[in-house]
Amino acid sequence: MTEPAAPYPLLSVRNLSKHYPLRSWWGGTASVFKAVHDVSFDIRPNETLGLVGESGSGKSTVGRAVTMLNPPTSGHVVFQGADLARLTAREMRGMRRHIQMVFQDPYSALNPRMSAGAYVLEPLLLHAADRSRAELREEVAGLFERVGLDPRFAGRYPHQFSGGQRQRICIARAIALKPRFIVADEPIAALDVSIQAQVVNLLQDLQDELGLSYLFISHDLRMVRYLCHRVAVLWRGGIVELADSETLYRDPRHPYTRRLLAAVPVPDPAAERRRISTIGLAEPAPQGAGHVLTEVAPGHWVAQNADG
Ligand SMILES: Nc1ncnc2c1ncn2[C@@H]1O[C@H](COP(=O)(O)OP(=O)(O)OP(=O)(O)O)[C@@H](O)[C@H]1O
Ligand SMILES: [Mg+2]
Repeated sequence: MTEPAAPYPLLSVRNLSKHYPLRSWWGGTASVFKAVHDVSFDIRPNETLGLVGESGSGKSTVGRAVTMLNPPTSGHVVFQGADLARLTAREMRGMRRHIQMVFQDPYSALNPRMSAGAYVLEPLLLHAADRSRAELREEVAGLFERVGLDPRFAGRYPHQFSGGQRQRICIARAIALKPRFIVADEPIAALDVSIQAQVVNLLQDLQDELGLSYLFISHDLRMVRYLCHRVAVLWRGGIVELADSETLYRDPRHPYTRRLLAAVPVPDPAAERRRISTIGLAEPAPQGAGHVLTEVAPGHWVAQNADG
C-alpha cells in the first residue's frame, strides 16, 4: 500500500445530510427520515478512504450522495474545486467521467441484453465518439486485459460469466474514461472469498496505475484495514470516528468503533475466546450520533457526545 502523496483533497464533503420523505400509508402527516446528517470528510488524490458501519448506518446513502446519483438534501460535495450541486446538467455530465461507481451486485448492475464488450464500450461512445470503430474496439480489448479478462469474452452476455468476472466487467466500464475517483459500494461482498482478494488487488493496482482515489464502502473490516489509508466510521447516519487505518485499529476511541472492531473474528482460537467474552461487556452506545468531531491526536477525529 503506497501512501497518498498530495496532502490537498481531491474531494471535500462538508456537512452532507440526506433526508428521505416518510410517507405514511394511512394518509397521516408525512415526515422525514434523517438517513445521514452532517457528514464531512476529505479524500486526497491517490487515497482510499474506507467507510464502515453496520447495515442501515447510511454508507450507501453517503456514496450515492457524493456521486450525485442521489443528491444530498444539504451540504457540499466539492470535487476538484467545483461544488457539484452548483453545476449545470451539462457541466455535471462532463464531470461524471471523473467520478464513477462500482456496486455490490455486478449482476444487477449489468444489462442482461448487452454483451460485455458493448457495456464497456458505452461510456466511450458517449464521451469519445470521435474515435474510429477500430480504435474503440482496441480500447475495449485493452480494458478487458487491464482487468484480467480475456478480450475474446467481449461478445459474451452477463449470465455467461462468473461473479468475479462480472465485477471485473463493471470495473472495466468504471475505468474506461480514466476517472479520478471511484465510489466502490461493497464491491466484494457478493463474491466468493477466494475471489475477493483478487478483486481488491485489482483495485489497488488500478489505483497505482491511474492515480485513482476510492471511497471504499465495506463491512469487511479486515479488508478495509488492508486496503484503506484512512477509515471513517459511520453510526446512525453520522461519522463518529475518523483516523488513518493504523491508528483506528490500534487505538479506537469511540465506543461504537470499539464494538465494531470487537465483532471482527480473530484467526486464533484463544484470542477468539477472549474476544467473545468481552463483546458483551462493551460500553453501551451513546444516544444520538455525535456531530462534533474533536481531533484527539493529529488526524484522529472522534465524536464527542452530548453527555461527554
Ligand atoms: N430511497 C430511500 N428511501 C427511504 N429511505 C431510504 C432510502 N434509501 C435508504 N434509506 C434508509 O436510509 C438508511 C440508510 O440506508 P443505506 O442504504 O445508506 O445503509 P447502508 O449503511 O448502506 O446499509 P447496508 O450495509 O445494509 O448496505 C436506512 O435506514 C434505509 O432504510
Ligand atoms: Mg449499503
